[in-house]
Amino acid sequence: MLKKVGILINGGDAPGLNAVIRAITRTAEKNNVECYGFIDGFNGLLHNDYIRLDNSEATSGILHKGGAIIGSSLNSNVFNYKVIEDGKEVYKDLSEQCVQNLKNDEIDCLFTLGGDSTQKSARDFACRGINVIGVPKTIDNDVACTDVTFGFNTAVSVATEALDRLHTTAETHHRIMVLEVMGRHAGWITLESAIAGGADVALLPEIPYDIDKVVEKIEERKKSGKEFSVVVVSEGAFPKGGSISVKDTRDGGKGVINIQLGGEGDTVAKELEKRTGLIARNTTLGYMQRGGTPSATDRILSTKYGAKAMELALEGKFNVLTVLKNGKLDYVSLEDVVGNNKEIGAVEGGTEDSNMKVIKMDDDLIKTARDIGICLGD
Ligand code: F6P
Repeated sequence: MLKKVGILINGGDAPGLNAVIRAITRTAEKNNVECYGFIDGFNGLLHNDYIRLDNSEATSGILHKGGAIIGSSLNSNVFNYKVIEDGKEVYKDLSEQCVQNLKNDEIDCLFTLGGDSTQKSARDFACRGINVIGVPKTIDNDVACTDVTFGFNTAVSVATEALDRLHTTAETHHRIMVLEVMGRHAGWITLESAIAGGADVALLPEIPYDIDKVVEKIEERKKSGKEFSVVVVSEGAFPKGGSISVKDTRDGGKGVINIQLGGEGDTVAKELEKRTGLIARNTTLGYMQRGGTPSATDRILSTKYGAKAMELALEGKFNVLTVLKNGKLDYVSLEDVVGNNKEIGAVEGGTEDSNMKVIKMDDDLIKTARDIGICLGD
């Protein structure tokens, strides 16, 4: 009999987190299950810091709110956790402490709201005997085995609105306006917002770009009387034969280097200005994509995911991820989600080597973009 469940969030915030918390809590309460929220994700799990979530107070009025009422952990892999010993930074596997905390407090199931990195840790906890159910969160939409992650739809809407605004400046001043968007090594936000926002060029991490092709596209537009262009650039895009733009790096321990992406929009804008004679300006949209109120679509998706996660727990189906498969709610094994990234605690997600869902070249979105003349830099 399921009595107590815990919710934990890891990774960057995404619109819809509170909607998932609300849905899990409501479904739990209806089934006489106590629900708890770990404060600041894996840090709360490690230090046994949690609060009771019930319908009366904690979770009311949160559906439309951005962020997460219980916080989230960032760069906190408890299987490879940074601690200071004798004034030195060392990395330790502290997962056993987390397992003990869950067992001591009789938490029957842990819901992990996060992207590929989080679901990798969730799967590693499953290997240590903890009942886990993952919920796919990230604006990047790059979690394997699901059609879509919650937070993505809102991010696309924010990027689309930005493109609409940049369009007017581009047209008025006969400029090239570049928008750099997030998404790490996947171009979902770029491609969808480019289609929704009527962009002329979309540069994706999945297609190393040739700047000559982009210049050609802009010159063609000039010839047809359109002396402006709108270009969307993924933070993870890079030129053919070149490398990704890295803003900063962070030591993740055990040889793992986490990189912060950024700068490709500026590079592209400078190059286009030099080559076309048009003034080009870059705008980096950044964290605007992650914060704030979720779209109606994300509220619904998050609610569906949260309720489904709790249903799965009630059915005793653990060590799975709730997913949307061909538009229908479903679940898959966390083993499938991590793919070949099997070694417990050794490799974090969120890297080029983890099992990410990137855009395939036969995706409808690619075909649509090409059909309507969006230049993909190839
Ligand atoms: O994964 C979500 C995301 O916003 C990425 O799109 C981006 O590259 C990254 O997180 C930024 O992370 P941080 O919050 O560590 O700067």
